[in-house]
Amino acid sequence: MDFQDEKVKTMDMTALQKLVPIHGVPMGIEIAENWESVEQFQARSDDLLIATYPKAGTTWASEIVDMIYSDGDLEKCRRDAIYNRVPYLEFKIPGMPSGVEQLNGTPSPRLVKTHLPIQLMPDSFWEKNSKVIYVARNAKDVAVSYFFFHKIVKALPDPGPWNTFLENYMNGNVGYGSWHDHVKGWWEKRHGDNILYLFYEDMKEDPKRELRKMLHFMNKEMSDETLEKIIYHTSFDVMKTNDMANYKTLPNDLVDQSTTPFMRKGIAGDWKNHFTIAQNERFDEDYKRKMKGTELHFRTEI
Ligand code: A3P
Repeated sequence: MDFQDEKVKTMDMTALQKLVPIHGVPMGIEIAENWESVEQFQARSDDLLIATYPKAGTTWASEIVDMIYSDGDLEKCRRDAIYNRVPYLEFKIPGMPSGVEQLNGTPSPRLVKTHLPIQLMPDSFWEKNSKVIYVARNAKDVAVSYFFFHKIVKALPDPGPWNTFLENYMNGNVGYGSWHDHVKGWWEKRHGDNILYLFYEDMKEDPKRELRKMLHFMNKEMSDETLEKIIYHTSFDVMKTNDMANYKTLPNDLVDQSTTPFMRKGIAGDWKNHFTIAQNERFDEDYKRKMKGTELHFRTEI
């Protein structure tokens, strides 16, 4: 897909910034209006899905998986921007092919990106037993990353000041709804053979260990040398300078990276630079209530 500057310039971004509930989950208005085609999407048994709550490391996992599919061949991975190599299932903006349309035209085996909470997943993924890699990231770093993302993506609602955004995020009043429900929903489903549940913090701590989990899950073998190559090329510093992975190919009118780059910090624990003590206490208290009864455990630093 080619995002043409001229086309994007004529788009009414304010009209796109509205959130509309789909089965109770707030979603961008264009996604909501295109919902039927997402619901009816035909998955294939050899699809591999990368599912995340936004800002949990989707692009990182996508780049890794595409490199695995390409057996570490860098040239192959430079063939196109990440949003074309791993199309975004529910993506929809006016005048552009939707994610569904893009995927329908993609030969197998397809890599598919989604941020959908588990209850909104099209049935065909379960019917076809497609594999899913879910990446979860701690709620506080996601909050900060999502805040900055709202500032640079023109089709997202204005986040307002940090405190306002944080309240909205805690209340699930942002695109894709509650972080808590999202990570818990997918966690409860993880026991099937076809879901691999990973954590961003584990990937930061020991990318080789986590990459091996992915390989095992994908029934792939790889030499240690290729594995090291993939780890290097998917490290934050290298991906930051790779225009096929850092979204710099998108027009500024859609994603304006002049103040904050998409590849912003890429660490665990940046939330400490943004949460006040009071915000942190309030967040922890609310978190405890919402995550009660789950054994799902996150690390907010490593
Ligand atoms: P920060 O904003 O905290 O830096 P997503 O791809 O789901 O939108 O997630 C984006 C977040 O993942 C951003 O977080 C981005 O910097 C981080 N990220 C992207 N590539 C990464 C990599 N190779 N290693 C670590 N973090 C990465």
